[in-house]
Amino acid sequence: MEKRLRCAKLKDKIMEAKEAAKFFEKDMVVGTSGFTPAGYPKSVPLALAERGEKGEDLGLTIITGASVGDELDGALSRTGVLKRRYPYQTNKDSRNKINDGSVQYSDMHLSHVPQWVKYGFFGNIDIALVEAVAIREDGGIVPSTSIGNSNVFVEKADKVIVEINTSQPLALEGIHDIYSPENPPNRRPIPLTRTNERIGTDYIPCDPDKIVAIVISDIKDKTRPVASIDDVSKQMAKHLIGFLEKEVKEGRLPENLLPLQSGVGSVANAVLGGLVDSKFEDLTIYSEVIQDSALDLLDSGKVTFASGTSLTVSPDRLDDFYDNFHKYKEKVVLRPQEISNNPEVIRRLGIIAMNTAIELDIYGNVNSTNIMGSKMMNGIGGSGDFARNAYLSIFTTQSIAKNGDISSIVPMVSHHDHTEHDVHVIVTEQGVADLRGLSPKERAKTIIENCAHPDYKEQLMEYLSSSLEKSASKHLPHAMDKSLSWHKRFLEQGTMKIK
Ligand code: COA
Repeated sequence: MEKRLRCAKLKDKIMEAKEAAKFFEKDMVVGTSGFTPAGYPKSVPLALAERGEKGEDLGLTIITGASVGDELDGALSRTGVLKRRYPYQTNKDSRNKINDGSVQYSDMHLSHVPQWVKYGFFGNIDIALVEAVAIREDGGIVPSTSIGNSNVFVEKADKVIVEINTSQPLALEGIHDIYSPENPPNRRPIPLTRTNERIGTDYIPCDPDKIVAIVISDIKDKTRPVASIDDVSKQMAKHLIGFLEKEVKEGRLPENLLPLQSGVGSVANAVLGGLVDSKFEDLTIYSEVIQDSALDLLDSGKVTFASGTSLTVSPDRLDDFYDNFHKYKEKVVLRPQEISNNPEVIRRLGIIAMNTAIELDIYGNVNSTNIMGSKMMNGIGGSGDFARNAYLSIFTTQSIAKNGDISSIVPMVSHHDHTEHDVHVIVTEQGVADLRGLSPKERAKTIIENCAHPDYKEQLMEYLSSSLEKSASKHLPHAMDKSLSWHKRFLEQGTMKIK
């Protein structure tokens, strides 16, 4: 423990999780570490869940970096401790509580969260609860497998509670790069011009007097397994690589491409994984999550450097990753999500953003979050930060879902996350639709012809033709039932006549 807790004056702050949990009071706002279940606190949330189980009504608001493991989102949802949640989750039980209306969830662009905390838009942060591998002599906190918003929570919270997790290798010390922009009007340009540059400190500065409790834990990150790479994903990866090769040939991308961002989930992992067998070399990653496929790319030497805010390694390879962490140390940096997802940096570096859609429509609008328009899946995460600001914004999806009962390409998305303006290229296992420079009607034809599943092509083409016949506007035609329209009164007055 000497090596992990180096600040002598904090030694008497070590306590059991149960004791630390007593600092939490009803309706408090708590900011925690954790991003795409990595580096989140575990022991204190479990102790809080016990309080909930005993019938205490804590009603906490929890703000994280992104998704966290079951010890936090799951346990606090099941015991009713969680009342309000920002900005992203992937847990089955928290998802159920959100969808049954008992947890209030605001799904946010991840780059907005740290500045909202700094601007005070969430009110006061009562407690910052963060996982660390060590605390330095000066009180500085060395995070574990993610940073997310931890630095901002530590800066703004009244009290700080640290879980030192001994299952996380101390070798992680040195991979973090903490930098936090000032609020406007004093904000300066972020001095980051290459994925591998360092601009900050390798620890979160913290006044030791703010740390009220230190809990020693050894619970491992409960990362999520990724689905094995199937033929459909391989086909998507093949189309994507073919498209990127064409871009290089036509001089729109350098031979080693531009820094890559890849979204979360099995599809994103498989698509990025496809690059291992490509002829591209000397690639870099500037993303939020460094997941299994990124490690494969680092192992194969295809990727020379990866920048993210979290290291999310699937359960199967977690032990091996910890044991051999030295291999990655010089090739990986973790940054606060205020930097990894920062629009200024994304635009400057010229990122190739690859995110996943749940469904998309014939005009190129994307739904990434709400199944059939109202049932929350995970959240928008960082996909909007990257899609809006990328050099090239690519969305991938399988053309069908639920064994073919649903077409992932629909006439109009049932929920809107990414507008047609932020979607440059669509890739399904059927092919690629390059939407750059196309009008809505041209986009519709290209998407249906190149990306829709053959079982749904005819139906989608019929929709387009009947929309062209029925719609008052031929620019972005839709065959909507006017009797259902909120524009009915306006339409009936006949003002919408297009000459
Ligand atoms: N209609 C209904 N359900 C659909 C669907 C559609 N068009 N497309 C997918 N689904 C369902 C799947 O059947 C599956 O359901 P299940 O959990 O009951 O099996 C679920 O959605 C997930 O689909 P899957 O194909 O396994 O995709 P995934 O693991 O690659 O995740 C997203 C896809 C979109 C949910 C995920 O990428 C996500 O949450 N994205 C938003 C956040 C983001 O992009 N962050 C990026 C920056 S990190």
